[in-house]
Amino acid sequence: MIDKIKEYIDKVAAFQAQSLEEVEAFRIEYLGKKGHLNQFFAEFKNVPNDQKKDFGQAINTLKTVSQEKVAELKETLEGKQEEEGVYGDLTRPAEPLQIGSRHPISIVKNEIINIFSNIGFNVSEGPEIEDDWHNFTALNLPEYHPARDMQDTFFIQTDPDILLRTHTSSVQVRYMENNEPPIRTISPGRVFRNEAISARSHCIFHQVEGLYIDKDVSFADLKQTLLYFTKQMFGKSKIRLRPSYFPFTEPSAEVDIYWGLETETDYRITKGTGWLEIMGCGMVDPNVLKNCGIDPSEYSGFAFGMGIERIAMLLYQIGDIRMFYENDVRFLEQFKSSI
Ligand code: DAH
Repeated sequence: MIDKIKEYIDKVAAFQAQSLEEVEAFRIEYLGKKGHLNQFFAEFKNVPNDQKKDFGQAINTLKTVSQEKVAELKETLEGKQEEEGVYGDLTRPAEPLQIGSRHPISIVKNEIINIFSNIGFNVSEGPEIEDDWHNFTALNLPEYHPARDMQDTFFIQTDPDILLRTHTSSVQVRYMENNEPPIRTISPGRVFRNEAISARSHCIFHQVEGLYIDKDVSFADLKQTLLYFTKQMFGKSKIRLRPSYFPFTEPSAEVDIYWGLETETDYRITKGTGWLEIMGCGMVDPNVLKNCGIDPSEYSGFAFGMGIERIAMLLYQIGDIRMFYENDVRFLEQFKSSI
């Protein structure tokens, strides 16, 4: 029996392997559950007492040399694999991670917030499901006022008092009801209009509303604030204010920026005039201040409202408003480098 063990010890010493699989097979043959070693251990009880010592020593030697052999072969073969580049260059950078991108609407919204927060405006929000008072009546649009038709409204069928807000001007009302002047706030948010969907218009879009209320606020303050904004946002320093009508402001104006006529695109988007309309604005109507609990004999202020999609379309030259809502990654991926 001892000779048999010695034979195996010699075999182990002579064993060579070309691959890790062969080493593993060897390990199982000798050191595995049903391997030679365990078989010898099982024999141990049958060995006559006077031979037990030598037998035990022989098994232990077989065990040690087998273990050493496995470890040694493994190490050389693994080293060889590494050299051959099985694992490649372990110092190379990992696979690039797929990182997301901000939606262009968020990018533009954040930029607008930044620009106005630099001159002391805070951010306020209101509910998308509104009541008639905040969306219309308090804004100087009483029932049956023809200007209500300027914005096609989604009403909740069972309750004509509840609707999806058609503009963020509703947040003005809520803000004035809950805060004392001086007020400087901008309110970004989603608005809804019952309009046919096309490349130019959508039934869901985003606006930013601005509101400034204090003592002695004048139209000149409004103009200067908007000029500051257009310079920061578009890098354009020429604006014009065209007289217009909004029920909640008096006087009211539409703001155009001079975009220029340098490229073919400039011609197309400005219809050959060089001017682009970007928002509505005006001095808050005294009736609106009164409706919201602010004394118009003490305070005055201005307000403005603009569409975020429109600005994003201008900045990024996006030709179809529907792209903002399709979540096509080929579109969204293009805004990766933006903050
Ligand atoms: N609410 C208007 C709209 O949705 C935009 C607007 C115009 C807001 C003039 C204002 C403003 O605050 O003063 O078309």
